[in-house]
Amino acid sequence: MNYVQILSHPLVEDKMGRLRDHVTQTSDFRRLVEELTLFLCMEATTDLALEEKTVTTPVATTIAKQIAPEIVLAPVLRAGLGMVEGMLRLVPSAKVGHIGFYRDEKTLMPVEYYVNLPSVQRGIVFLLDPMLATGGTAVAAISLLKQRGIADIRLLCLVAAPQGIQKVHAQHPDVKIFATALDEGLNDNGYIVPGLGDAGDRIFGTLD
Ligand code: URA
Repeated sequence: MNYVQILSHPLVEDKMGRLRDHVTQTSDFRRLVEELTLFLCMEATTDLALEEKTVTTPVATTIAKQIAPEIVLAPVLRAGLGMVEGMLRLVPSAKVGHIGFYRDEKTLMPVEYYVNLPSVQRGIVFLLDPMLATGGTAVAAISLLKQRGIADIRLLCLVAAPQGIQKVHAQHPDVKIFATALDEGLNDNGYIVPGLGDAGDRIFGTLD
């Protein structure tokens, strides 16, 4: 299927420019991540199934609609946490799991160190990670979700590198990817170019 959507909207472009700027302070960076996640959430939820429910307004009884599938957010620690609030603003009933990986120094492969996910029967998991760089962590996180029987997984990120998109779709062609920007590539340290630096450090103010 290989679905990739790079958002195109003047407000997104403007916010991405501010996010990338190295002078942007932590509080503004966090707010921008949250705001950009609202746009990602809108795009990644356009096809959600609806079910009908009866609602009584102050005037009459009518048939209204509500989101049918269970929604689970799965931020990849730690930078993915910065996207949770934006998702919850629009989908407040979502459950939130957490996925943590570190990179093994010898094999350079991602190793899971913390996983806490609610059980999901026929729900949708939105995997949140601001930076899709080499794609190694995303592939490992998606494999983990699939091992738990989750069929509908959508990957939401702010900046994607072509290498990351390619790697995810080589292993998981069914996973839809949504990003607010597609960048040129990666440098020798695995950072996205031009990117925005270390997203976790910038969200949590741990840059020296
Ligand atoms: N993780 C980040 O935080 N930034 C990058 O550029 C790549 C991976």
